[in-house]
Amino acid sequence: MAMENFKQFLFALATAVLVGFVSIFFVLRWVFYFKEGLAWDGGLAEFNWHPVLTVTGFIFLQGIAIVVYRLPWTWKCSKLMMKFIHAGLNILAFVFTVVSLVAVFDFHNSQNIPNMYSLHSWVGLAAVILYTLQLVLGVCIYLVPLTPTYLRAAFMPLHIYSGLFVFATAIATALMGITEKLIFGLKDSKYKDSPPEATFVNVLGVLIVVYGAIIIWIVTRPSWKRPSEQVLVSLSTSPRESDGTKVGFGLSQQTVCVDPEGGREARKRSGKLEDSGQVN
Ligand code: HEM
Ligand code: HEM
Repeated sequence: MAMENFKQFLFALATAVLVGFVSIFFVLRWVFYFKEGLAWDGGLAEFNWHPVLTVTGFIFLQGIAIVVYRLPWTWKCSKLMMKFIHAGLNILAFVFTVVSLVAVFDFHNSQNIPNMYSLHSWVGLAAVILYTLQLVLGVCIYLVPLTPTYLRAAFMPLHIYSGLFVFATAIATALMGITEKLIFGLKDSKYKDSPPEATFVNVLGVLIVVYGAIIIWIVTRPSWKRPSEQVLVSLSTSPRESDGTKVGFGLSQQTVCVDPEGGREARKRSGKLEDSGQVN
């Protein structure tokens, strides 16, 4: 199955994955080289699980889960299989995030530090609560076979909006957390003196922003959207056009597909797949 601007897609995806891995490397290097490492002992090494797991889970894994439907080489997989992968990656991200919160609350309680006093903690907890809601509603609406298709269709714009909203909020929360930690966590110097640790961790913050920007770019390109099941079926049953070109997104005829679950129309004109409103 051909994809419009496939090379640009590949470049964006490869850059996002690279930047994501470099961010994970940066957070691990911060924790092991500049900080106390990782442990579960009620001390600072326990706190360190918090940035490691939020960056790996709530940011990196959530970003991958969000773009997984867009990978053209998965378009031949069944939609149900892709739903399991999308939901599974989000559940894994959720587990990482919950453990990261347990680590920071446990650290605060054992050091007698108050809980939930900062803007970072308020926005962060709100994001995690919304994420939980998104997961539960996502499973109930798109995985439970009994859910009526009109509900699936009606909920999809909200699902996409709230998914991206939570993802962006997670990134904003991480930036606040990083700044806070640099303000009160540097050992022998102050943030304003730009010690190597502060510069290094500022770069981590920039990498996280770049990762988020690319993921949101990928997932908001209409031409990179997974075609509806009907388009996929119609293409696989008519492999060649009369002019001898392989049928893909270069179709010149107009195809109108009715989505059986959403009851919406997917129109393909002049090689462009219009917003299909697909919900199955
Ligand atoms: C504390 C959430 C990322 C640094 C907290 C607390 C929450 C939270 C709810 C309050 C814990 C308590 O009061 O006992 C999140 C979420 C994140 C995230 C959802 C996802 C992106 C980060 C990152 C850092 C960080 C990347 C970088 C080091 C801190 C610090 C505290 C904290 C220093 C203790 C001070 C405070 O309560 O604000 N976080 N956090 N957080 N977090 Fe995060
Ligand atoms: C699509 C986010 C959980 C089912 C999407 C999209 C986002 C998103 C941003 C748009 C993707 C695109 O346009 O290519 C999230 C987040 C979740 C979550 C952040 C977890 C908190 C779930 C769950 C299910 C689900 C548990 C259940 C299977 C779907 C479906 C689509 C979708 C069916 C439409 C894909 C398409 O037709 O192209 N989700 N989602 N989501 N999500 Fe989720």
